[in-house]
Amino acid sequence: MKTMIAQLLHDTLDHAIDQATIEQLLEKPKHDELGDIAFPCFILAKQLRQSPVHIAKDLAEKLQDVRIKEVVANGPYVNFFLQPLPIANTIIPAIVSEGAAYATAPKNGKKVVVDYSSPNIAKPFSMGHLRSTVIGQAISNIAEKMGYEAVRINHLGDWGTQFGKLIVAYRLWGNPEAIRQQPIQELLKIYVKFHEEAEKDATLDEQARQAFKALEDGDAQALGLWKEFREASLLEFNEIYELLGVHFNSTNGEAFYNDKMDRVVEELEAKKLLTSSEGAQVVDLGETLPPCLIKKKDGATLYATRDLAAAIYRLENYAPEKLFYVVGGEQTLHFKQWFQVLDKLGYDASKFAHIPFGMMLKDGKKMSTRKGKIVLLANVLNETMEAAKQTILEKNPTLENSDVVAKQVGIGAVLFNDLKNDRLNDIEFSIEQMLTFEGETGPYVQYTNARIHTLLEKADFKAHTAPLQAIDDTLWPLIKVLETFEATIARAYTQADPSQIAKFSLQLSRTINKFYGQQKVLTQDDTQQDRLTVLYAASIILEQCLNLLGIEAPAHM
Ligand code: ARG
Repeated sequence: MKTMIAQLLHDTLDHAIDQATIEQLLEKPKHDELGDIAFPCFILAKQLRQSPVHIAKDLAEKLQDVRIKEVVANGPYVNFFLQPLPIANTIIPAIVSEGAAYATAPKNGKKVVVDYSSPNIAKPFSMGHLRSTVIGQAISNIAEKMGYEAVRINHLGDWGTQFGKLIVAYRLWGNPEAIRQQPIQELLKIYVKFHEEAEKDATLDEQARQAFKALEDGDAQALGLWKEFREASLLEFNEIYELLGVHFNSTNGEAFYNDKMDRVVEELEAKKLLTSSEGAQVVDLGETLPPCLIKKKDGATLYATRDLAAAIYRLENYAPEKLFYVVGGEQTLHFKQWFQVLDKLGYDASKFAHIPFGMMLKDGKKMSTRKGKIVLLANVLNETMEAAKQTILEKNPTLENSDVVAKQVGIGAVLFNDLKNDRLNDIEFSIEQMLTFEGETGPYVQYTNARIHTLLEKADFKAHTAPLQAIDDTLWPLIKVLETFEATIARAYTQADPSQIAKFSLQLSRTINKFYGQQKVLTQDDTQQDRLTVLYAASIILEQCLNLLGIEAPAHM
């Protein structure tokens, strides 16, 4: 609608101001009674050296289109009242015929790399990793909707000095059977013990350093242990990914770049970017940033070195248009530093974006999975699904497949709770709140969708793509919301912000539920089909929103 109005204004104004600018200026009037769209004339007034009130009046007289019911000047604004029926007929039949493919951009042949989840081997999957997983998955889905191919990479933390410690700890205290049973918990236990013992026994740290060196040099025994730790941990992570319905194209972690790091160092040397600092090799980043550490005194590489090697590999291997790194805000400095090193090396750093996010809180405090008492994420998810089952059985005791639905609702609740907020905000993890069927929750959106399905079944609805006959005042708000779906996806992509989709789905759900309050749906007359068709289209869009967020949409609940 905005594009249509902008085009019309553009033509009427004889191209005095460009169409994109006009479109940006268009706003929603404060009240529905004032119109559907408003064009403020201030900027134009400056340009034309006329009064905005005069311009508005003049424009209101000139503008005409079949899709516009009325144009009125209201002071310095031109207010448009649109013709509901032609607008409804440009979108509803398209949604009905295209289904899930509606508003999917044609494949553009370009790739975007999304680095997300990326937990650390032999450590618990933290709440931060959960956020990264959920946000990264949604960004990948949205990119695909926009026509890109998303390359989903789980950059596992499977390399680094901590593996030296783990190897030493394992040799001293490891219990293979216990590790097979509960890999991460056991490995974490001996890792914590290592730190305790190292305070008393100073030789342990040196042993660990040597063990990591052996690992980096390809020592078979060290490598064998490392592989065991990695596989055992992955098995546990995969349980979580399965629950969440998350998939990756690559689980190449930090270790994968082991043989690609010499090249980074060589390129840095060739460009004379490396300097020595207390025996370590660093890239100086001037006044604004601390130097980026590339190699330790003993030659061991670092997290940033591996990220640089991975960046070059990804550029060359995928030739992507953009690379997103969905990682918590506490790593902002790390990304700023190595992005700058990449730029100094002559690579196009403008393609790279760190996508930070806030913390997960419980009762206002950071939900930590570290420091002894480990909250295992799998337990938290199971608890949520159990609570979802209780709620569902209370509401609908005869529901078939209640276990499947409980999983869809429980997991959906966790995902939606994460994604409805602006990424950078901290979010509260309250199982009770995220599961309410009223309010801003995943189950609320899922329930709104399921309720439409029930209505359609009751009416024995058959979808067809014939034009609608009439759109009254009760249906019009729904059409207006549906019309903004496509623009919402584009915004969610450019801002790398899935909350745009979540908020849209809430707005659509609220509008649907308000509609029920104003208008009986099943009236058994010839207006019924139009109402059901619009609701059917709305359910297709709700389902799309949920799926883009990585959430399933049960037809019954
Ligand atoms: N494994 C890291 C951590 O848990 C996150 C890795 C993020 N991705 C990256 N390319 N640095 O802190």
